[in-house]
Amino acid sequence: MITVAIIGCAGYAGQETLDRVLLHPGLQAVALGSNSQAGKPPWALDPRLQGRDLPAFVRNDEALASGAELIFLCLGHDESVAVDIPSTAVVVDLSGGHRLKDAALYEQWYGWKHPHPGRLADWAYAVPELQPPTGRLVANPGCYAVASLYALAPIKELVVPGSVVIDAKSGMTGAGKSLKASSHAGFVLDNFSAYKVGSHQHAPEIGALVGFPVCFVPHLLPIRRGLLATVYAHAPNGGVREAIEAAYAGAPAVRVLPAGVNPELARVQHTDMAEIAVFEDRATGRAIVCCAIDNLGKGAAGNAVQNANLALGLEQTLGLRLSGVTV
Ligand SMILES: NC(=O)c1ccc[n+]([C@@H]2O[C@H](COP(=O)([O-])OP(=O)(O)OC[C@H]3O[C@@H](n4cnc5c(N)ncnc54)[C@H](OP(=O)(O)O)[C@@H]3O)[C@@H](O)[C@H]2O)c1
Repeated sequence: MITVAIIGCAGYAGQETLDRVLLHPGLQAVALGSNSQAGKPPWALDPRLQGRDLPAFVRNDEALASGAELIFLCLGHDESVAVDIPSTAVVVDLSGGHRLKDAALYEQWYGWKHPHPGRLADWAYAVPELQPPTGRLVANPGCYAVASLYALAPIKELVVPGSVVIDAKSGMTGAGKSLKASSHAGFVLDNFSAYKVGSHQHAPEIGALVGFPVCFVPHLLPIRRGLLATVYAHAPNGGVREAIEAAYAGAPAVRVLPAGVNPELARVQHTDMAEIAVFEDRATGRAIVCCAIDNLGKGAAGNAVQNANLALGLEQTLGLRLSGVTV
């Protein structure tokens, strides 16, 4: 068994990562880090963990020093960059703290100066089906970036770069557990809003992988989980569906929908699957590619565990939630 520590285990991303570690036949959770829950049993956070063979929560720094062979960092971006990374473990960072190679972009898009610019080159930005991890330090992609990249990356050579627009919507768990005015029920319920228009921090990581800047606008849906990104682009020579189907042929965690089938959040919520649909706009001939994911699944913990499996040389789907036909 490969030993695992989850740092920031009490947050949404941490809990979802723990759930996949519990499903995984080759991983054993040996340290659960949470500064707020330290000393408490796991079921104090979630009664469904009662009776599971898990250690009590410890503080994050203690979990980091546990000697685990695999570490998931499920912390805020600014907390993640402050961590002393153990020297031998495989580390998968779910935050944005190590995703960008150019430290100057952190000031521009995150609003703070990166404390360790010299270390950014050590991290591999990894998207399992598009750019698998290399090395032991893995920067897991952002949830909006996942849906945008699965739709756009396979067609990046076919589209006119300046024509690309990405319109994306996410459920409110994307904002994390801590209370904020923007995720208060009184603001979110029965409402629908755009936010960080043209200035969201996932735009540069999307641009870095495809090789050109993208116009990206996120929106907040009044639902708990799920994220749908729609990419609009001119692809003057066609070939979009063929490129998407070729990119994901045999990919176990990406489903390309048949022509005419609309993407739906309900089919991907609570799963680690991405669902992609390809259309052509009758009026303008524009290519339209949609990708639906669960922001906490394929958008976070699912890809983190898939990346960890790839980094460790394990079968990539171990621990993932991929099967079943639920309603
Ligand atoms: N949410 C997503 O859809 C998503 C998707 C992709 C990537 N990510 C990234 O993953 C990282 C963690 O995100 P997250 O959504 O998991 O953040 P979160 O739910 O806000 O949790 C982060 C930390 O906040 C503390 N916390 C705040 N309020 C809490 C509460 N009511 N109950 C328990 N703990 C609470 C916990 O730390 P202590 O227990 O130590 O206090 C927890 O580890 C971020 O960098 C984020 O950008 C998130």
